[in-house]
Amino acid sequence: MATPSRGSWTGHLGFVLAAAGSAIGLGNIWMFPYRTGTNGGAAFVLLYLIAVIAIGIPLILAEVLIGRSTKKNPVGAFRTLRQGTAWPALGWLGVVAGFVILSYYGVVAGWALEYTWRSALGGLGAIDEEGVAEFFARLTSDGPRQVAEQAAFMAITAAIVARGVEAGIERASKVLMPLLFALLLVLLGYSLTSEGASQGLDFLLKPRFDELTWSGVLAALGQAFFSLSLGMGAMITYGSYLADDESIVKPAFLIASLDTLLAILAGLVIFPLVFTYGLEPGAGPGLIFITLPKAFLQMPGGGFLATIFFALVLFAAVTSSISLLEVVVSFVIDEMNVRRDVASWGVALLIFALGVPSAVVPGFLDLVDGLASNWLLPVGGFLIAVFAGWAMTADEARAAYRGRSNSELGFGAWRLCVRYLAPTAVGVILLQNLGLIG
Ligand code: TRP
Repeated sequence: MATPSRGSWTGHLGFVLAAAGSAIGLGNIWMFPYRTGTNGGAAFVLLYLIAVIAIGIPLILAEVLIGRSTKKNPVGAFRTLRQGTAWPALGWLGVVAGFVILSYYGVVAGWALEYTWRSALGGLGAIDEEGVAEFFARLTSDGPRQVAEQAAFMAITAAIVARGVEAGIERASKVLMPLLFALLLVLLGYSLTSEGASQGLDFLLKPRFDELTWSGVLAALGQAFFSLSLGMGAMITYGSYLADDESIVKPAFLIASLDTLLAILAGLVIFPLVFTYGLEPGAGPGLIFITLPKAFLQMPGGGFLATIFFALVLFAAVTSSISLLEVVVSFVIDEMNVRRDVASWGVALLIFALGVPSAVVPGFLDLVDGLASNWLLPVGGFLIAVFAGWAMTADEARAAYRGRSNSELGFGAWRLCVRYLAPTAVGVILLQNLGLIG
């Protein structure tokens, strides 16, 4: 039984909305296009899709059922299931990953914040198309400004987590997520009729496998983990607020589909524009912050659209950052008996401090970003798969998997994935990148 202070979702829809809100964020709109660009395009996209289906969906199920059956934060969950073993350390790894990811996530969200209020005040309209790249370069080399914006974003995140993630987020997500989707469709219409459309679509959809490297394979895997919020127990935590009889199979597919749809849509919007404006697809983290404002500047009512768009990106970032903070906060509440509001503000302050180097030291953000999504998350995901596939007995796993919409066939397929497919695939990719095999 969940203790009342832990809270719970208002039902299965609430869970899907919150989990999709966690998944859909800067990972889709900022990271997916930029990583696709730096890793050569369509072959990366294809690998990413394979990773989502073969590894992502089974791992969502694994995390959610671990959370749902224990009603605990990641550390508490592994401790409940395997008292006196080393497994709780896997929960610790998740808490650490939450710290690391949110530290730079706040900085990138700060960029979205800057773009939101700048375009609201008409500031983006005052610069010409050429000036957009310069605007971004100036922002990212202005340490104090980025720190201030990161602080504002972290304060929003802390304020929401302090109140409990359930009610407010569920309600806001229901309106704002579809709105983000609709606005991306508007942008899609614009980008598909732009000059670079066919070149952009080619880049995104026609794989050139000769350019594929093992580091590209790892990046695609890391992208799938990051985008689906996997590998650090965020889904364990959200699953812990789920009632025992709620189904998890349909939600897992729904969350993965929505998340992937938004990423692909963002790619379809960005790449035609990249070629239309003669930009470099591999330009890196600034890709959307340079291409999109250029497009907005050319559209009638562009300043207004830009404001709405960046505000929605910001909202998507908030629904993700609260899940990152929630992992750490639920741990502090459960394990250290601290009040929710104190835990939320305290942890947010620590993470903010940890994020300052990402804002002020050039190149630091990229480094931490690579460390988190290419190493922490895949290693965490590998171990979670091993836990669900090997540490849990078949009976134990079957009991935890049960729910309203389960079938023995589905269970069998899932168990095969977490027992063999996921550990082998992730293991081989990690070893390859460490130079240990091949
Ligand atoms: N998935 C989010 C995004 O795409 C980021 C995120 C939220 C995350 N919670 C997470 C990433 C947990 C890894 C683990 O923006």
